[in-house]
Amino acid sequence: MTSTPQLHEPQPVEGRLLRNVCGLFVTGVTVITTGEEGRSEGTTVNSFTSVSLDPPLVLFCLHKESRLRAVVEESQAFTVNFLAGPQEPLARAFAGKGTAAVTDVPHHRSANGMPVLSDALAFLACRLVQQFDGGDHTIFMGQVVELGVPRERQEPLIFFRGSLGALEEEPRGAHPIFDG
Ligand SMILES: Cc1cc2nc3c(=O)[nH]c(=O)nc-3n(C[C@H](O)[C@H](O)[C@H](O)COP(=O)(O)O)c2cc1C
Repeated sequence: MTSTPQLHEPQPVEGRLLRNVCGLFVTGVTVITTGEEGRSEGTTVNSFTSVSLDPPLVLFCLHKESRLRAVVEESQAFTVNFLAGPQEPLARAFAGKGTAAVTDVPHHRSANGMPVLSDALAFLACRLVQQFDGGDHTIFMGQVVELGVPRERQEPLIFFRGSLGALEEEPRGAHPIFDG
């Protein structure tokens, strides 16, 4: 007897495969920083999304095992630092368990007391407004309370197919999708 493929039966989705497929969606790279002086932490994250302009809301997803989690919850605030092309070593440094310290890299404080990486392309300082369960991640939503673009002219660091790299050329479309 030949077996017929169960085309309509949903197959369990394997985590590694999902990660590989999602890796085809090109993103920028951020380091989320949080914590008052003496308790600051940072983690490399590409799950950043802007949510709303009015009120100004953004979110990111953080693995529940991340050491950053307790510090975000304690601080009730965080900064999203968009990395520039030359900051690949920084992205790698903050992607390991406890390998990089915010105090080892140039930084200053936002008005709400959160660390801001001084060489980032841009930053959004946020106060935590809500958090949601997202499976093995927690979704943190913040309201932007301060922003800045310290390295406006630099290209961004991007993440694609599991690799980090600088975006060497800006797209040259004649008609920008957004004009703002
Ligand atoms: C490009 C890139 C993007 C990442 N994005 C995320 C993310 O969105 N959420 C997350 O929890 N971890 C993400 N990670 C993994 C964390 O950086 C890494 O697991 C973490 O720093 C190690 O644990 P910690 O958070 O306790 O420091 C990413 C790593 C890289 C290299």
